[in-house]
Amino acid sequence: MTTLVTGGAGYIGAHVVRLLQQRGEDVVVVDDLTTGAASRIGQTTLVKLDLAACDAVDVLTRTMIEHKVDAVVHFAARKQVGESVARPAWYYQQNVGGMANLITAMENARVDRLVFSSSAATYGQPEVDRVAEKLSGHAINPYGETKVVGEWLGRAAGVAWGLRFVALRYFNVAGAGWPELGDPAILNLVPMVLDRLERGERPKIFGTDYPTPDGTCIRDYIHVLDLARAHLAALDYLTSDVRPHDAFNVGTGIGSSVREVIDEIGRVSGLDVTADVEPRRAGDPAALVGSPDLIESTLGWRAEAGLPEIIASAWEAWQAGPRRIGG
Ligand code: UFG
Repeated sequence: MTTLVTGGAGYIGAHVVRLLQQRGEDVVVVDDLTTGAASRIGQTTLVKLDLAACDAVDVLTRTMIEHKVDAVVHFAARKQVGESVARPAWYYQQNVGGMANLITAMENARVDRLVFSSSAATYGQPEVDRVAEKLSGHAINPYGETKVVGEWLGRAAGVAWGLRFVALRYFNVAGAGWPELGDPAILNLVPMVLDRLERGERPKIFGTDYPTPDGTCIRDYIHVLDLARAHLAALDYLTSDVRPHDAFNVGTGIGSSVREVIDEIGRVSGLDVTADVEPRRAGDPAALVGSPDLIESTLGWRAEAGLPEIIASAWEAWQAGPRRIGG
């Protein structure tokens, strides 16, 4: 079994690469190394390529044929919401264009299994406690839109030529499965808090006036290793002939507030985490928690780690450094 992992040198991709190799499978990584790092994948075969480049279809087709690729896990994409608002055409070019090239090459090379990194950003601002898969399609920024379109494209290729497709909608990913594979970017709450503490600065809380118990935003934090395991379950699912669903939440079903996350970082690190309160950040939903029922009943997957394990592993990885590769 050979799996091609696009974005395999990135934070989540490198965890999946390692789990596949531990399972005894062959892996080929395709990554442009703009935010990923070759050091994260050791001796794994690496094809350095921007999926949206003019020659990407040719390079990908040749790579899949040469390495006898059986399945693809597609991570490679841009993922900053604010940047997507400022540069929408580039986000569509990179995320939608890149995926279109990938699927064209898969059709050329007759590779018919694809696991796609989708996002809770496809839900926008749902007004429910735990969002179920059917509520998707309401993205509120270009980043989320590219994930909605990516799901449409995967499904359409299924109808057109039999692509076996599954989308995993990630909630708030954090932690590390191995200390050297911690999140290198300072883009999300946990690394942003750790970064500020390291600089001797106070963490920031963006808004304490939300309609939540402590006034701060609630999110569903998922351990990156649990998330990586969901990809292996999804790859296995694509080999079965009966596949009633093609999109799954990958969350825990449990929400944690910004204050709870920061307090847990204080508990684990022993540092003073007294935070400064800042205004709300534009576009933040008050709460976004995923129902994990469908993935559990269909793929037999459920998260094992809770917030304490997530934060403990993130803290261990942070101390192991160097952390900041790209961003
Ligand atoms: N936050 C702070 N202080 C910080 C950083 C973040 O209070 O220093 C807050 C944010 O305002 C938000 C929460 O912490 O309320 C989580 O913020 P993140 O930036 O970590 O994550 P988001 O929920 O905004 O975004 C994540 C992914 C996106 C994805 C989105 C889908 O990073 O890629 O979930 O909901 F689109």
